[in-house]
Parts: sequence; structure tokens; C-alpha cells
Amino acid sequence: MKQLKISLSFLLFCTNILVFGQKKQPFFWGVATAAYQVEGAYQTDGKGESKWDFLTNKVGITQFTIGEKQTGNVSINMYDRTQYLKDLALLKQLGANSYRFSLDWSRIIPDGTGAVNEKALAHYDQLIDDVLAAGLEPFVTIYHFDYPVVLMQKDGWGNPAMVDWYINYASIVMKRFGKKVKHFITFNEPYIEFFLVENMLHEQESKHIPPKEYYMSQMQKAHRQLIANAKAIELYHSLQLKGQIGIVLNVNPGAAWNASKVADVKAANFQDILINGLFLDPLYKGKYPQMAMDSLAKYNPSFQPSASDLTFIAQNKPDFLGINFYAPAVVKGEDSAMSLKWLDNNPDAIKSNVGPVMPEYLYKMLIRLKKDYGNPTVYITENGTGFAGEDVVKNGKVNDPLRIDYIKRHVAYALKAKREGVNLGGYMVWSGWDNFEWVSGYTKRLGLIYVDFKTQERIPKQSFFEYKKLIQKYKGI
Ligand code: BGC
Repeated sequence: MKQLKISLSFLLFCTNILVFGQKKQPFFWGVATAAYQVEGAYQTDGKGESKWDFLTNKVGITQFTIGEKQTGNVSINMYDRTQYLKDLALLKQLGANSYRFSLDWSRIIPDGTGAVNEKALAHYDQLIDDVLAAGLEPFVTIYHFDYPVVLMQKDGWGNPAMVDWYINYASIVMKRFGKKVKHFITFNEPYIEFFLVENMLHEQESKHIPPKEYYMSQMQKAHRQLIANAKAIELYHSLQLKGQIGIVLNVNPGAAWNASKVADVKAANFQDILINGLFLDPLYKGKYPQMAMDSLAKYNPSFQPSASDLTFIAQNKPDFLGINFYAPAVVKGEDSAMSLKWLDNNPDAIKSNVGPVMPEYLYKMLIRLKKDYGNPTVYITENGTGFAGEDVVKNGKVNDPLRIDYIKRHVAYALKAKREGVNLGGYMVWSGWDNFEWVSGYTKRLGLIYVDFKTQERIPKQSFFEYKKLIQKYKGI
């Protein structure tokens, strides 16, 4: 009997090798970061100026939100190898087996389209080797919001040529790192890039296009990014690199402020479509949701995606879907779905930095991906939180019970969904370290590891140790 068991597992092992050409993947436990938020070194090794270098240094974007100019010029110094080796050692101590990070386009091709900067490629080559040597599977985001400013000055995603510029960059990266990196991510959160951050900027700068028209005009850019995503996937598959490529979406399921009010339920449903359906439907069903198309017809009639574009997107599906889940979009009847009103609705008594704490919506979304979108392989590529006043050092320690509670409850719901057949392959906390939180600068801490932004000292918070226990407990699932 014992022998039969052994040969059965051997057979399974062989099947995995035969079918997938590689060993069965473990469940990936890890943390995530993004280049602009952690690297610093904004003028090192021939790096070009990026959109976010420009927004922070020249526009002073954080002044609008926090009343002070802050930049990622130094950030948490993770471009520096001495520093990042210490940081990887902390991930090893955490017991993680994966690390999601992004590459900076403006380091690799400083002017966006021209000469390739070998120093930057060599840097990332070394980083990937170091990540692997620390026993971590690299999940490499090719593009996380930021890109060379030269391209922004040519209208960025407003310019049809952006697709080719991106593919040129992506192909350099895939060819150089594709033998070592088995999980590539094309893009991070197109909704947040186009409908949230750019919309916020537009409101600040009070340009003259009316809000709903402006909001819907962003659709051209988002659509272009979906085409670039499909092209990158097609290219990756043609290179036969024996790994996987996917896209990361923020998912914010719509939730009615008052579930017994018809107007709230209706508004939540529409908001849900404009955040989630707008990306999930074209990726998995080859069409945009009808309700979104109706609003587009009204506010942006020039948006006419061709049938062949939509077929192309659906034919080049991601091998996996990364989801970033922080909170549902809680919506009131009077909110316009073509706005950012939902961000202000939070019924919690103690409010987090990233919206209401409602982990059951993570579960609901995972089940929905299984039922409505063909049960793709899903990785939770970001989940995490922060509460004002919680991340303070006392006697050399940081006690963060609210973050611990948040992570435990989200992991529990994620694993429940997995037990119920959702194809969930991993879970990553945003973030490993406190870092530059975009328009909020350094005022919002979301890390498992506290960073003293002046001295670069790291202090693992209590949540680091609790997450470590969770990883130990569920390692073999
Ligand atoms: C982004 C991260 C960001 C995090 C927390 C996500 O939208 O991918 O870059 O720091 O949320 O706000």
C-alpha cells in the first residue's frame, strides 16, 4: 500500500513535469513593491527622468494632497545593493517564497524608445539573481504606473504609438530576463492609473473639460493599454520561455451604502461595472459591459473599439490574473459612477488608509472570478492596510494590531475561496516596507517593516511576525 502511494505521487510528479514542463508550483506567499516607490537613486547609472520624477519634483504633486513637496528621489534606497540584500534577508526571515517588484522603464530606456542602458539591465539582472538566491520566486511587473517623461510629453497613452513603445521595452525585458523570471506582469491597475490618479490630477488642475466627459475620455487610454497587454502576452508566448505572463487589476466590488435602498444598490452595481467589469469583461469575454458602452456613447462617442481589437484582446488572455484587493467600492445612490465619490464612503468607526475593512468582499470577488470568468489562475498581488497613528516605534518595536487583524481576516477569506475551488495560487502583502505612497508621499505607512525615512533603519513590525506565523501554518497548501 505504502509503495502504491509512493508510486502514485511519483506518477503525479511526472505528470506535472510532462503537462506543465515544470514542477507543480507551490502556493506563493510574499510581499510586493514597485520601483518608483522604493528604489530612490533617481539619477543613478544613467536613469532617465520619469513621469513620477517629473510630477513630484517639477509639478510638486504631493503639495495638492498633503500640503508638502515630497519625492521618490531617495525613497527607501532599495536600488542600492547593500540595502536591498538586507531587505531580501528580511523576506527570508519572514519565510516568504515570492517577491513582487517592478522594473523602471526610465532606467532601461532613458528616453523611452532609443538606446538601451546596459547598466540598468545589469542592475536588474543582479537583483533577480539575488532574489532567486534568497529562495524567492520573482514576480516582475514590467510597468507599474511610471514611464519615461519624454513619452508623457508626447501624450503617453493618449498617443497610439505608445503601444509600440511599450512593446519594444517589454520585449527587451522579456528577452533579457525571461529565462530566470517565470512570472511577468504586463501592467498594474489600469483603472487606478487612468480613472483615479489622472482624474484626481485633472480635478486639481481644473481643466475645462466637464468631469463626466473627461472621465470617459480616459477610456481610449485604458483600451490602448489593454491592446498593449494583449500584444505583450502574444509576444511572450511566441518566445516560448516556459513561464507565465499576466496582468494585475485592482478589484473593488461595488457595495451599496445601504443595502435596503434601491438607489444605493443600483449605483453600486454601476460603479462595480465601471471599475471591475470594464477590464474583466474585455479580458475574459472579449467585450465591454453594455452599461459602460451606453455611458460612453453619451459622454465619449468617439470611443469606438473595433471588433478585431476586442477579438485580439480575448484571444491573448493572461496566463494568470493578479488582483489587488484593499476594499470594496461603497456607493451611495447620489454618487456619480463617473467620479471618485466612492472613495469618500467609509462606514467604519476606525478608518484605514485604504478604505473600509470588509474582507468578505475579497471572498465574493474570488468566487465571482470562478463563476463568471472561467476560474483563471489568480494571485492576490496586493492586499494590505495602514491606520493613522498605528505605526509608531515604542521601545524599538512597532505594534500594529489593526493591520494584523486585517491581514488575518483577508487570508482566511482567501483560503476559504481556495477551498471552494477558486484557482488561487498566491497571496502578497502590500507592502513589505513603508514606502513612497504616490500622492500621499511618506504620510501613509503600509509596510510590514517600518522604515525610518531619515536613517533608512528597518524595524519589522508586529504584523511581520504574525504574517510569518500564517506562512508557516499554511506553507504546504
Ligand atoms: C498600487 C500601489 C499602492 C497601493 C496602496 C495600489 O493601488 O499598486 O502602488 O502603493 O495600491 O495604495
